[in-house]
Amino acid sequence: MTNPVQMELSRRDLLISSAATIAASGTVASPIAAQSMGNDMDYRTSTNYKTQVSFTVNGEKQQLNVDNRTTLLDALREHLHLTGTKKGCDHGQCGACTVLIDGRRINACLTLAVMHEGDNVTTIEGLGAPGDLHPMQAAFVKHDGFQCGYCTPGQICSAVAALEEIKTNIPSHATTDLMQQAEISDAEIRERMSGNLCRCGAYSNILDAIVEVAEARP
Ligand code: FES
Ligand code: FES
Repeated sequence: MTNPVQMELSRRDLLISSAATIAASGTVASPIAAQSMGNDMDYRTSTNYKTQVSFTVNGEKQQLNVDNRTTLLDALREHLHLTGTKKGCDHGQCGACTVLIDGRRINACLTLAVMHEGDNVTTIEGLGAPGDLHPMQAAFVKHDGFQCGYCTPGQICSAVAALEEIKTNIPSHATTDLMQQAEISDAEIRERMSGNLCRCGAYSNILDAIVEVAEARP
């Protein structure tokens, strides 16, 4: 039977030889590892992790110097103070952060700001404002398409883009005939809006609002 002292020794030997191997190969897995192994690159003071990015947000040119890891969502909310776009899950699962990039919807929490050089970003603030609401915003108000309102900016941006997708004949999983123009139906809209969750369960009113806008379009 193995002596506990021998086991302890062999475990220690293993750790020492692993550390020696990593040091010899120069492989550094993290800033903490870099510091503990004497690498003089300091991630906390280096400016190499920042990038200047220019894009247009709601019709205004913006230039930001952001940490490369900054999501578009954080750039909008924390740098440009456009807090209409909401952070729900921050993991691409709720749709609260939906904005439009060149007219296409995107989860702003899943994309980095530096990936959008030259892009046109539209947030809920850019769709319309009190006194000059976008038809989709007005329809949400008319049909009570919200309760707490937290998911609403994402729902509205998503709905605007979803109707454009139908218009340009981009199929969804609910499209029955791929050879025909996708039609406005409850099933189509529910499927296309399935990435936007509403904790308050205002789904039926949201659907009514979107259908009204869809049917009023030329
Ligand atoms: Fe982006 Fe939830 S916050 S999908
Ligand atoms: Fe409250 Fe949708 S209105 S989460």
